[in-house]
Amino acid sequence: MTDTRTLLEWSARYHANTYGRAPICLVRGEGLRVWDSDGREYLDFTSGLAVVALGHCHPRVTGAIQEAAGTLLHVSNLFGTVVGSEVAATLDRLIGGPSGRVFFCNSGAEANEAALKLARKYAKERFSSDRYEVVATRNSFHGRTLATLSATGQEKYQHGFEPLVAGFKHVPYDDLGAMERAIDSRTAAVLVEPIQGEGGVHVPDEGYLPGLRKLCDESGALLIVDEVQTGMGRTGTLWAYEHAGVEPDVMTVAKALANGVPIGAMLARESVATALGPGTHASTFGGTPFVASVALATLTTLLEEKLPERAARMGRRLMDGLRGLQSRHPSLGEVRGRGLLIGVELARPAAPLVAACRDQGLLVHSAGEQVLRLAPPLIVDEAACDSALATLDRVLGATA
Ligand SMILES: Cc1ncc(COP(=O)(O)O)c(C=O)c1O
Repeated sequence: MTDTRTLLEWSARYHANTYGRAPICLVRGEGLRVWDSDGREYLDFTSGLAVVALGHCHPRVTGAIQEAAGTLLHVSNLFGTVVGSEVAATLDRLIGGPSGRVFFCNSGAEANEAALKLARKYAKERFSSDRYEVVATRNSFHGRTLATLSATGQEKYQHGFEPLVAGFKHVPYDDLGAMERAIDSRTAAVLVEPIQGEGGVHVPDEGYLPGLRKLCDESGALLIVDEVQTGMGRTGTLWAYEHAGVEPDVMTVAKALANGVPIGAMLARESVATALGPGTHASTFGGTPFVASVALATLTTLLEEKLPERAARMGRRLMDGLRGLQSRHPSLGEVRGRGLLIGVELARPAAPLVAACRDQGLLVHSAGEQVLRLAPPLIVDEAACDSALATLDRVLGATA
């Protein structure tokens, strides 16, 4: 195998310079752990940015990949497939509420693009041709395509890419009054994360989503919930909006849906979904039999192994443990989150801490400059939680 130094040089030289990459090359993963090209082992509390909910190389996911690869890898969406229909029906059953429709694509951004296009088409057909605006929230993250970047409420990601797509307004998160003032006769939809992930793990007040539901019902705007990061059990329920006891009109899912095989999905209520007829939207690789098989295996395993419940339990253990560290480490601020999407506010930059944890065999990420983000696979157990807490304790002590 090529030596690590050369691999890192090639990466720095040949990859587009869009990521601030850590100076390691990962070669293998199993469960909660990954190994680098020098044989070092890491406990992975990132899950590839909230993707591998079942852990690395889960045997049922690997089995589904192998079987699909030898059965039917790809056909166009102009044909139906057995597993494509099965996964669509399964998702429909799992979102609860009235039955709807799903559009499959390849990423979270693409799922949000589909939702934004649907909202415009629906509002124009149902109400009037100048009803196309979407109200999103400050500090949100919805993707990097031009429309989803325009929906994202963080200028640092938008800078240099102007002019942005027209028709987006931003209001502070968790502020129903501001949302009420922003919604008017041109509002097609409200787009919101049930917990802001990339923006620093912000959990809104429990009345926020029900309040948004009410505002949307009163105005005719669609409620689009972006479950790309929070979905698939991460927050302790299959979908994070379940905590609030409301149902969205449209929701988007990606990341963990096929445990690492690229997929996105946009689900909409039947009465809304019909606005997108044949030929109005498409994606070549969306929901191929291959990815549909993997998504089906992921969903089935996640539910059979009761991983949302485990996420709730392990999340409590981690958050309690983190709060326990606060007295010894004054730089540890607020601990917030739900289930296994956890943010820790720091009184210092997160990047050196992330690097020090990695040197000690623990992979974590930051969300923003001063928030440490923990998002382990949902299969995480007590011992792994305690080991991660012990590493953090050590690293915080050594780098204070
Ligand atoms: C809430 C949310 N929406 C959308 C996206 C974009 O997903 P993708 O990177 O798959 O396009 C992300 C990615 O982190 C996200 O957290």
